[in-house]
Formats: sequence, C-alpha cells, structure tokens
Amino acid sequence: MSEQSTHFVEIFKDPEHAAQYADGPAKFMPGFDAVHRMAGVLIREHAPPDAHVLVHGAGGGLEIEAFATENPAWTFVGVDPAKPMLDEARIRLGDLNERVTLHHGYADDAPAGPFDAATSFLTLHFLEATERQNTVSEIVRRLKPGAPLVVAHCSFPQVAEHRDAWLARHREFSIASGVDPELAEQGRRDISDSLAVLDPEIDESILRDAGVADVTLFYSAFTWRGWFGRAP
Ligand SMILES: C[S@@+](CC[C@H](N)C(=O)[O-])C[C@H]1O[C@@H](n2cnc3c(N)ncnc32)[C@H](O)[C@@H]1O
Repeated sequence: MSEQSTHFVEIFKDPEHAAQYADGPAKFMPGFDAVHRMAGVLIREHAPPDAHVLVHGAGGGLEIEAFATENPAWTFVGVDPAKPMLDEARIRLGDLNERVTLHHGYADDAPAGPFDAATSFLTLHFLEATERQNTVSEIVRRLKPGAPLVVAHCSFPQVAEHRDAWLARHREFSIASGVDPELAEQGRRDISDSLAVLDPEIDESILRDAGVADVTLFYSAFTWRGWFGRAP
C-alpha cells in the first residue's frame, strides 16, 4: 500500500467520520443516487437476475442498499479495509444483510468468486496509478467472462488552468448542496493536495491495461467520471 492510500484508509477508520459518512456523497457528487440506478441498468444488461455482485470499497453500504432494494434476487460480497465503515454498512443494511457478506480488507482479500458483476464507487481515486491498476486486475480476475464492471470516482483534467476551475466548481456545487463553505473549501483542498486524481484518459487506459474490455464512459459530472466494461 502506498503512503497516500494508507492515509485515506486511516481517515475512514475514524468511527466518528464513518458515522457521518452517509450524509456526504450526495452533496458533493452530482447525481450520486442516479449513478447507482445507472449502474443497476448496466449490470442488468449483462448479468443474470440472481447476480452475485462484488462491491469494492463497500464501506457505508450506500450502493449495496440501493442495488439490493432495486434487485431483490441479487447477493453481494463487499470488501473494505476500514472496519468502522463496514460497521456502518451493517447498520444501514438491516434486513438486507441476509444477502450480503462483508469482508475486512482489500480487493485481493475478496473471495475468488467468480462474480456476475462488480463495482468500485468513490474508491479508486485513493490509489496511485500502479496500485489502481493492480486493484482493478484483482477485481477483474474475480469476474466471470463477460461480466460487467462499473466504476465511478474523482477524475478530471489535470492541466493547471482546467484543474483549478474544476476544483472550484466542485467546492461551489458542495456549497449549493448545503455544505458549510469552510468545509467545502477544505474538501477542495483535500482533493487538490491529497487525492490521487488522474486525467480521465489515463483512468481509462488503466482500466484497459488492467484487463477490462469495452471500456465505456457512462457518467461525467464536474470532477467525477464513471465507466463500465466487461471481463475478458
Ligand atoms: C468515499 S468511501 C466510498 C464508499 C462507498 N463505495 C460509496 O460509494 O459510498 C471510500 C471507501 O473506500 C475504502 N477504501 C479506501 N482504500 C481502499 C482500498 N484500497 N480498497 C478498498 N477500499 C478502500 C474506504 O475505507 C471507504 O470505506
């Protein structure tokens, strides 16, 4: 693990941070709930009705809750290195836990599957390029041939003048969503100084180099991008 990604895991290991997590994403990621619904559509295109789904970075349980509610026959394996985030997921999921197994760890700690689909939401941006590619490879290795992978994370142009403009728009969107302006500015600084953000073109090539076939952009909003593809 790089120092950078370890730093972020430590933040998610703070129980107070984990307890407040669920309120955040919809305020700083435009269409956060819609991304879950779009991912559901994309997974249903290529997976069976009783899909067994691997959820990478499953802490908090938000995407599992959305998928499980909309798809009553799906079952899930979630993996996440921050125990407090897994605890929050268990609380959030309530009765849905019957269809969910949560593992404490990283992608290479997940069971071998093979899975009918996989997702990684708001997580790959913590990993620098090599670690990101290795992680995606580990996920792809656990998929059945042709199974869909859907990812979404922070990814936007890193050329200086565009980068600063998008970072400012991210802050302003958070403020417009009701976030305290000081916290929104702190969020802007955290992304700028600490997150392993890459150009979308580089993100796409990492997915391809990790073995994802037919990589396709399905979501682009301010500082965020989402792609889907298939296991070879
Ligand atoms: C911003 S949260 C996203 C949670 C959830 N996927 C969502 O969309 O709401 C990031 C999660 O990724 C986890 N995480 C950080 N580094 C990770 C890694 N290398 N592998 C798997 N999960 C990781 C954190 O512990 C945290 O629970």
